[in-house]
Amino acid sequence: MDLKHLRPNRAQDAPIYLQLYRRYREAIAAGRLHPGDRVPSVRSLASDLSLSRGTVETAYQMLVSEGYFVTRGAAGTVVSPRLGRLGEPSQAPTPEPPAQSSPRPQAVAGKALPFQLGMPALDAFPRKTWARLAGRSVRTLDTAAMDYPDPAGYEPLRRAIATYLGISRGIACSHEQVFITPGYHGALDLVCRTLLKVGDLGWYEDPGYILARQYLERAGMRLAAVPVDEEGLSVAAGKQRAAAARFAVVTPTHQSPTGAALSLPRRLELLEWANDRHAWVIEDDYDSEFRYHGRPLPALKSLDRGGRVLYTGTFSKVLFPGLRLAYLVVDESLVDKFEETVHLLRGPGSILPQAMVAHFMEQGHFSRHLRKMRSLYAVRRGYLVDALTRTLGESLDVQRQAGGIHILAHLTTRQNDKALAESAKAEGLALDALSNWQINKASQRGLLMGFANFATADDAMASVHRLRTVLANP
Ligand SMILES: Cc1ncc(COP(=O)(O)O)c(C=O)c1O
Repeated sequence: MDLKHLRPNRAQDAPIYLQLYRRYREAIAAGRLHPGDRVPSVRSLASDLSLSRGTVETAYQMLVSEGYFVTRGAAGTVVSPRLGRLGEPSQAPTPEPPAQSSPRPQAVAGKALPFQLGMPALDAFPRKTWARLAGRSVRTLDTAAMDYPDPAGYEPLRRAIATYLGISRGIACSHEQVFITPGYHGALDLVCRTLLKVGDLGWYEDPGYILARQYLERAGMRLAAVPVDEEGLSVAAGKQRAAAARFAVVTPTHQSPTGAALSLPRRLELLEWANDRHAWVIEDDYDSEFRYHGRPLPALKSLDRGGRVLYTGTFSKVLFPGLRLAYLVVDESLVDKFEETVHLLRGPGSILPQAMVAHFMEQGHFSRHLRKMRSLYAVRRGYLVDALTRTLGESLDVQRQAGGIHILAHLTTRQNDKALAESAKAEGLALDALSNWQINKASQRGLLMGFANFATADDAMASVHRLRTVLANP
């Protein structure tokens, strides 16, 4: 294909990676590129178009995760042979790995249970560095730090997060826009108190993260279940069922729990809806750091020109959940309103853990840790996928998602996933049933399994053997 069809226009407002992504989609739709055609490597296209490799990689990553491209290892990247005639993925792109979050952390004596959801690898956390930083943080906090802390959060941590989000998630924000919260619920709580009122209607992904759903319902929000498919939340269904909703809660990078990435057309449609309706979009970006093919997808917030996206991230997956630290990023125009709320709530708690995380980030331990965990999790995920495929390949269809720290496996038998999960729990296996996460009557049955704490292939195999016994004698 002639490169002139791909060349982005620097005068345009849209980011270059987006333009490139669109050019490829147009080329496929117009028949200039056909299913099976090989596309240039990231390196050569970047050099031919004088773009950075990161920009091309981001565009390719989106095309792969939405099913337009498939990577073939040494054979390069090709236009997906499964594409329909009009260039739309005929089948859903392979969903990505779901999230990890168990309704209650169940680690016993510092050890995660087999398949435990939402628990990062406890054995791989750099505890020595952490202990050193604890000492340093205590020593460097002066008497001023013994006063009531800033309820918006410890400033150096807010700055470190703003820098990190700029580099890693494409979000340009100042530290004043970042509010530290006690976990994701704390972020939701801030949003509810600042922008919503009891009885407000919101879209909620179905299936979706069960704990946040319970929180919002208890906070008096009415939730409209909006189905999720291979392109993430169906914005069209949301508009049809609850066009006048005041907010939508989404997990765009890695839908929780199915793992699908929200496709670009849907991202744009969602933002358009939010702008038109003056609705809020709560972006829950809980585990985007873990992707095993390519770079993480940019956040939805990076496309938000109208200031409608309230972005949340958490340290629960990238460090550990016991920290209870998360953050909310709001548009500049909302900072004063959120300041008022945090002054009433008195902030996220003690300064010390915040100072430790700030030091951890500033000194480069955070990015090192993420790099290390990405490769470790790719290996550990392989252990579980391998063990499941070899041992339970007949009864489970394991989804090969691109990221996250858990796996979704659809049941190919007619067994009831809730009953299976209950029996498994009774045997000390902490997996969960997909239908527990569904709002409307479950149409799919599957098992959600964490893999981060399988330290060896034998560990994974031993737990899968135990699961096989449960499946055979539910
Ligand atoms: C979908 C999703 N969002 C957010 C979170 C983060 O929650 P928290 O910060 O309260 O640990 C989790 C944790 O498991 C999750 O699964």
